[in-house]
Amino acid sequence: MRLFSEQSRKGGLRLAAVLVLGLAVFAGAALSPEAALAQATRGDVAQESPTGGTVPGNALGAASDAEIWRQVRQGIQGTVSIPDAKAGQLIQSEGESWRAWRNGPLSTFGGWALLGMIIALALFFALRGRIKIDAGPAGRTVERFNAIERFAHWLTAVSFIVLAITGLNLLYGRYVLLPILGPEVFSAITIAGKYAHNFIAFAFMLGVAMMLVLWLRHNIPNRYDLIWLSKAGGLFSKGVHPPSKKFNAGQKVIFWAVVLGGFSISLSGISLLFPFEFKMFEGTYATLNAFGAGLPETLTPMQEMQLSQLWHTIVGLFLIAVILAHIYIGSIGMEGAFAAMGSGQVDENWAREHHNIWVAELKGEPMPDLRGHGGSGDGKPQPAE
Ligand code: HEM
Repeated sequence: MRLFSEQSRKGGLRLAAVLVLGLAVFAGAALSPEAALAQATRGDVAQESPTGGTVPGNALGAASDAEIWRQVRQGIQGTVSIPDAKAGQLIQSEGESWRAWRNGPLSTFGGWALLGMIIALALFFALRGRIKIDAGPAGRTVERFNAIERFAHWLTAVSFIVLAITGLNLLYGRYVLLPILGPEVFSAITIAGKYAHNFIAFAFMLGVAMMLVLWLRHNIPNRYDLIWLSKAGGLFSKGVHPPSKKFNAGQKVIFWAVVLGGFSISLSGISLLFPFEFKMFEGTYATLNAFGAGLPETLTPMQEMQLSQLWHTIVGLFLIAVILAHIYIGSIGMEGAFAAMGSGQVDENWAREHHNIWVAELKGEPMPDLRGHGGSGDGKPQPAE
């Protein structure tokens, strides 16, 4: 009997301890800031608070706490006494959408586009092989590009390749290199790459400007481009060589992609390099709206930066895909092509097969065969028929 009462006393004490502990946990949870905020947003506090939910002294008007938080969450712009007016906006959700776009569809589709281009070029190489000089090398050469032209090309090319590699590292490095290299090494090369990207960009801009000045007159579309395009440049069929002056239609596409894409990527890059200094998208949107695009005409400085970043990446990925094809055809894809940018001298038969009108003009010969099946390679002009 004594034993029983002793046990029940201990049991009672344990129960009381559990209850006290439970109450303490409950009270703690109820008093935690999260719980207080949750209550505030439910409006419970408003009913219980002595001010009925309004800010004491009515400093912020009669809005309830929940309403104030809602407006903050929805990006209301307040005022601050420091010079940086942007700090007056506590939460801006566009940052979240920007991040989701950058790390989501943009990275995914960009990756597929680059991989797709590499696969397409590998398939093309497997099926078509290296495009040969059909008539075989003549052994005589003609000057295709002088030293200044080659300097402009390689300045653009080398700087572009560094920009492409360091840029791709900023987008994909954390997924591809970080797990292999570890945080210390990855961080060191990424910081170095970021500086290289910022400074080498100016060499790229200079190169593009030089190419524009040197080659603009050779890249105005002409009627031969239509013939070239209708035969797909003879790229898919042996012995087919559509007529062309200094640059064929395919090269003109590359030229304009580099010049216009280069200009656009440079502008968005400058806007990223000097944050919050320019309002490029507001101006662009206003121009597009003149054609009924219906885009917002006022953008916050933060939105300007987000759009600049997205556009910079889109144009960058597009240019890299285009340039992969260009590098392929200018190196392993076509016999005799690299010499044009190497020594500047190309084999005469190569020149007659790919740029027959240019060679004829250079040598003061009559107009060559424009049917597009040239390639006799005998070095002689053919009757136009
Ligand atoms: C290793 C990389 C590269 C190689 C091997 C290469 C090769 C060549 C060659 C051989 C030509 C002369 C084609 C001809 O005689 O008709 C050329 C022209 C040209 N290259 Fe490159 N290139 C490279 C990188 C680049 C890059 C990165 C850019 C620009 C971002 C570029 C832009 C141009 C342009 C605009 C032309 C004139 C139009 C054309 O021929 O397509 N190149 N390149």
